[in-house]
Amino acid sequence: MRRTTSDVIPPTLLLHPQVIDDPYPFYARLRREAPVWAVADSGIFAASTFELVAEATGRVEDFSSNLHCLMYRDDRGIPARWDYGDGGGQALVTADPPLHKLHRSAVFPELVAKRMNALEPEILDLATAGIMRALELGAVDFMADIGNQIPITIISRLIGFQGSDVRKLLDSAFETTAMLGSALSLDELIECIGRTTEIGEWIQAQLAVSMREPGQDLLGAVARAVHDNLMSEFEGYGILHTLLSAGGESTTSLLGNAVRILAEDHDLQAQLRARPELIPTFVEEVLRLESPFRYLMRSTHHDTTLGGVHIPAGSTVLLLWGAANHDEQQYEHPDKIDLQRTPPRHHLAFGRGIHFCVGAPLARLEARIVLTALLERTSSLTLDPDRSPHWVHSLMIRRHERLPIHVVGK
Ligand code: HEM
Repeated sequence: MRRTTSDVIPPTLLLHPQVIDDPYPFYARLRREAPVWAVADSGIFAASTFELVAEATGRVEDFSSNLHCLMYRDDRGIPARWDYGDGGGQALVTADPPLHKLHRSAVFPELVAKRMNALEPEILDLATAGIMRALELGAVDFMADIGNQIPITIISRLIGFQGSDVRKLLDSAFETTAMLGSALSLDELIECIGRTTEIGEWIQAQLAVSMREPGQDLLGAVARAVHDNLMSEFEGYGILHTLLSAGGESTTSLLGNAVRILAEDHDLQAQLRARPELIPTFVEEVLRLESPFRYLMRSTHHDTTLGGVHIPAGSTVLLLWGAANHDEQQYEHPDKIDLQRTPPRHHLAFGRGIHFCVGAPLARLEARIVLTALLERTSSLTLDPDRSPHWVHSLMIRRHERLPIHVVGK
């Protein structure tokens, strides 16, 4: 049998620690040699060019968002699927039409940019408090001391959770993304799933309370939709869980990735301090260069093809946003920050099509406020020379586990 390029790329590379730390040379190889890559005999395919990833997001009948499996690292060091069939149900990000539209219309009005702008003072207060503490100390871990705190606090208030323990919610958001991160062994994955039970019960209890007296918040919007039989209680719970994890985790990644880039580039810091109106464009470039979600999954319910590659029914397809956003066919000097790029929002970090991120206005707002405050109040931001930054070991998440920095005030 003829060997295809897909066979030639070693599947163990995907989970190799060096590739996880810096995936971009590997992504470039995928785009060049196997834009739709079959990962050994795993039933998993990875799409890596901008064109093919964008195409798959538009073909919702061929590439379903229903999730039937989680992935883990098998004994060979290759991603494998842990199938749970239809047990997960469908909830917004994992729903297909026509259900998806019902779910989306329940939460969308609560997350439009106009509503988000009202949160500006609260985000600024949280950012300023964190930055002032950092300035007193001079050296902090940006993630633990600032980056991790803000998005989870804001999303939990926006949802309308009562009596939230921010630490527990953050742990839960991180556990959920670890579960989806495809880098755990099967035993670790099962343990991780077990740990999410407690928070799941807590969210269900919050929904039950809100159903008795729905408030003017996301929890209330979901409770009303359940009450009106537009969605089941299980779907409502799934949507709240998604909002919590997506809202609490991904913007955290974005903040850290932006600060890492700034700390490594003093000219860029100076440019943005002098022209803060460029910060929103910088945020888009960070989203493109270091996309917080490297991929999200699709499932095939029937045989199909993508980029001329046959994909059998029952396959899992990874849409590699992180690879598509470095595609040299789309971008000049794709691996560099370019504040003149037009249009700045031309990237796939928030996905595309019907599932385009419903939280994008909030993520953009939080990033703009935090970065503006940080640059305004500091004259210098550098990586700590004695403690190196550390990426989370995940195939899916591009977030710093640790980001020690030094800050100097004005
Ligand atoms: C930098 C931050 C963020 C990034 C990079 C990001 C990324 C994404 C991506 C790539 C998708 C598309 C999913 C797909 O096609 O399968 C998505 C959807 C989604 N995001 Fe975000 N997201 C971010 C922030 C947020 C926030 C703050 C929230 C909550 C308020 C949120 C909630 C959601 C939800 C609920 C969906 C599903 C929408 C749907 O299926 O219609 N995200 N996000």
